[in-house]
Amino acid sequence: MSKVEGAVIDSEGEHSINLRHGGDLQRAVRDYGTAAVDWLDLSTGIAPWAWPVPTIPDQVWQRLPEIACPLQVPAASYYGCKAEAVMAVPGSQFVIQTLPDLFKGLTVALPNRGYFEHRRAWSAAGHRVIDYDHENMQGLDRLVRRGQVDAVLVINPNNPTTTCADRELLLQWRQLLAQRGGCLIVDEAFMDLQPSASLARECPLPGLVVLRSVGKFFGLAGLRLGFALSDLPLQRQLQQRLGPWAVSGPAQYIGRLALLDHSWQAQQRSRIHSMMTLQLQGMSALLKLQLHGEQWRLLTGPLFISLMLPAAAAKALYAALAARAILPRRFDYGGEACLRFALIGSEDENRRLQQSLSEALLEVLV
Ligand SMILES: Cc1ncc(COP(=O)(O)O)c(C=O)c1O
Repeated sequence: MSKVEGAVIDSEGEHSINLRHGGDLQRAVRDYGTAAVDWLDLSTGIAPWAWPVPTIPDQVWQRLPEIACPLQVPAASYYGCKAEAVMAVPGSQFVIQTLPDLFKGLTVALPNRGYFEHRRAWSAAGHRVIDYDHENMQGLDRLVRRGQVDAVLVINPNNPTTTCADRELLLQWRQLLAQRGGCLIVDEAFMDLQPSASLARECPLPGLVVLRSVGKFFGLAGLRLGFALSDLPLQRQLQQRLGPWAVSGPAQYIGRLALLDHSWQAQQRSRIHSMMTLQLQGMSALLKLQLHGEQWRLLTGPLFISLMLPAAAAKALYAALAARAILPRRFDYGGEACLRFALIGSEDENRRLQQSLSEALLEVLV
């Protein structure tokens, strides 16, 4: 296996932070002694406003979940694909950790940065993993065209680096990989805000798997609902691993209503856009005022803002923010690191973030 960037799986050392998940507030409470209620937790990429869950009818709790999935048609209409491509799963994480077990001995290309659960799953299943530079797809393009990889995983847009691969290029790769019995997997967990870049509407196609998450845009991470969009043979294999009732009745009920609620979706897009603009303006102004150096880059993601910076500065800034009960997510990539800030949920929270960031920057940069 090629080098795993910034990751030492069983150590609690510096790089192991890449293998933790955001939203682990209890860990922050333990590490810093600040009570959970006092934190501004910006360590996830989940929308700060959730689709408003109504009272769930008693029978939804009492009956087993429907076997003929009631989410297929609403999900197909939301994602723009054919209903037969849709398979509901208990979070896209289920597919990430199951998919590699459906294959044997593949050479799979993974982005050198991005949601690490993919790497963990493909490595654990014994496949040969090749890193590609997610900021420069030419290397990967050569590997695909020369037939040197069987499977390619693209996180689109990437979390936390925000890069988004070109749709047409991905479709070409899908075709080349499928011709050789391979596949392209596109993790679109954060794609809801830029549907024109999605491959979902191409599904089902042989050799294409698209993963979607209901947790992020709908702010319903605890619901554990996501979708695999794929062709039928792959869907059957996944279904076998999934068993009959993996998506709960309440998740089916809530998911269906949320996917059909177009006016809430429009409102959500608009407030995400407004709040992101506000948060970004504040953060860019602070960083411009206080920093001079090309090693610091501010990247705008769909539901988060990523600050790329030297690892030592990231460590210091993270600690200075934590001392003010602000919790971003830190990723360490060796020399470079990333502090990812979730979208904030109100103007008050924004003021608190900007004030704390301004103080923390002064403290770190003196
Ligand atoms: C890029 C990416 N894909 C997939 C997931 C899994 O999300 P879920 O299982 O909630 O759908 C995450 C979670 O953070 C993620 O960041």
